[in-house]
Amino acid sequence: MQVQIVQISAKDTLPLRHSVLWPNHPVDFSRVEGDESAQHFGAYLGPDLVCVLSLFTEGTSARIRKFATRPDCQGQGIGTQMMRHALATAADGGAGRVWLSARESAMPFYARFGFQPFGEPALKEGQPYRKMQVSLSGQSLASSA
Ligand SMILES: CC(C)(COP(=O)(O)OP(=O)(O)OC[C@H]1O[C@@H](n2cnc3c(N)ncnc32)[C@H](O)[C@@H]1OP(=O)(O)O)[C@@H](O)C(=O)NCCC(=O)NCCS
Repeated sequence: MQVQIVQISAKDTLPLRHSVLWPNHPVDFSRVEGDESAQHFGAYLGPDLVCVLSLFTEGTSARIRKFATRPDCQGQGIGTQMMRHALATAADGGAGRVWLSARESAMPFYARFGFQPFGEPALKEGQPYRKMQVSLSGQSLASSA
């Protein structure tokens, strides 16, 4: 599925963040601190925004947050294109490492890009999460950071 990935505003990520990730919470629950200064990407299928991802730069690390593909478009390679775009953008921006807090259900997806779990498992709103990270510099990363 060929999509066009472009930079979008934090505000434009909200409908998909809300409907895919936290539909049972108010829309504001899907905002995160630092949204104003983060980079936000949207994948368009024709006129439709079908996938969003946000990239937060933290020194020499970058953090991926709020990654969501519209349910009827999942499993068609769109998230893969988005993840490649995010990792390339992070590398271009000088990040040596990218990390994220993965829903356990999405861990196999992230593992395909080299992400490895670190730290302790955690729960958010009853959902199990695990931090994962990938090195972009070729340097090995501590597993307990
Ligand atoms: C995680 C998520 C963003 C991935 O986006 P996506 O567009 O579904 O991603 P892809 O289609 O590239 O890959 C998803 C799966 O489809 C498979 N796939 C990839 N390309 C495919 C294709 N052309 N045809 C069929 N399947 C394909 C992949 O192998 C992948 O399998 P895996 O889950 O076993 O790794 C999406 O599934 C989602 O929004 N999930 C719900 C919210 C969520 O969990 N977000 C992450 C929070 S940490």
